Amino acid sequence: MESTESLEQDAKDTWAHSLAPNSLEDPYGPTEAVIEGCPSLFLSPASFANLDDSRMWVATRFEPIREIFQNTERYSSKCVYPYFRALGIDLTAIPIQLDPPEHTVYRKFLEPWFSPKAVMALEPRIRANIDRLIDGFADKGECDAAHDFGRIYPVKVFMELMGFPEERFEDFLSWSHCMHFELDDQERYLWGARSALDYVRSYIEDVRKAPPDETVASRIVHGEIDGRKLTDDEIAGTVFFLWDGGMDTVAATSSLIFRRLALDPELQQLLRDNPERMANAVEEFLRMNPTVNTVRVAKVDHELEGQQIRAGDRLLCLVASGNFDPDKYENPREFRLDRSHNRHMTFVAGPHRCLGINLARFELRIALSEFLRRIPAFRMKPGAECVATPGLLGAPKVPIEWDLSA
Ligand code: HEM
Repeated sequence: MESTESLEQDAKDTWAHSLAPNSLEDPYGPTEAVIEGCPSLFLSPASFANLDDSRMWVATRFEPIREIFQNTERYSSKCVYPYFRALGIDLTAIPIQLDPPEHTVYRKFLEPWFSPKAVMALEPRIRANIDRLIDGFADKGECDAAHDFGRIYPVKVFMELMGFPEERFEDFLSWSHCMHFELDDQERYLWGARSALDYVRSYIEDVRKAPPDETVASRIVHGEIDGRKLTDDEIAGTVFFLWDGGMDTVAATSSLIFRRLALDPELQQLLRDNPERMANAVEEFLRMNPTVNTVRVAKVDHELEGQQIRAGDRLLCLVASGNFDPDKYENPREFRLDRSHNRHMTFVAGPHRCLGINLARFELRIALSEFLRRIPAFRMKPGAECVATPGLLGAPKVPIEWDLSA
């Protein structure tokens, strides 16, 4: 009989390997092995982000993942954001590291600038950014849909929204890259986080001295919660987290979408034939390409999925498998435009449901619609490297080509 340690090791290998870079048409294909081979909740031998020795559980199915996100009596998000702690700085990332009812106050403060109405008002800016980029390659017959397009438009839109100066674009991307993808190189990882935080703090100082304007950073700096101005640390924790949240997420999703379309001419044609169903298409792409697998920490001893959870245990929610749970979705690995009630966990659920959800959906919808309207049938360039990671890195390169005569 296999020992408990070796069973745990097998389970860990299954889920960790399923998130490795691959060249499959559907990079999330390997998470099927997690659904088939792992329990809905199991103890992983890995500690959380190597930061402490807490026990870490891995939730692999839709229902326990939903329960962990929604039940804020049992689960806290204080552990979500490792950067300030890694830097040895006593700062809270707002709103992500706060639990209700404290969280609710800050969330209500921020929500108006990310509401559907506020996002709709950004449409001309979003379109202008996207059109300008497409103008740059439309008559060339080729582009890198990740590097020349998907990597750029969401960050530019977000920078304008916040009021960040355009010339910091490459710096921002480089800091963000170190923070998320150079975890094994402690020096680079900390350099990215430190540089971003230093910049955010100095930017806040500039905004404070300037008269209030309509940018989100200015509204935060000059705004009030319950009749008082936010403290320096509150502002830094909020602007820093927004900066981070708005950087890679849409870009990674976008790269995965364009990669899939370049490899799947039938799916591409389906979208071209159904432009009015772009909102459904984007939602299905979001379900099938989740970029964030996030964590919570247990507040109290309790039982979940038949397991005894102790206060202080971490719980990793493996959205990359939960979004393909066959108990929740019919033919979960099939892309379907007609999926009704397409509830997924890509933006999580409960009070921390992504604040940028309206912006993210809207940007992806416009980008996809405009690209398909202006660029004819495209395909991966022969011999192109097309590796994708089922997560925030997405597909850094998606070199595609099309016939100019088409
Ligand atoms: C496809 C794009 C995006 C994805 C997949 C995504 C995903 C997520 C996820 C999974 C969370 C919850 C994390 C957790 O609870 O541990 C989250 C929260 C958040 N996201 Fe996004 N995000 C996206 C775009 C954006 C954008 C564009 C912004 C900002 C403009 C943004 C701002 C935020 C904020 C502020 C929170 C914290 C909400 C709270 O704690 O109440 N996100 N996002």
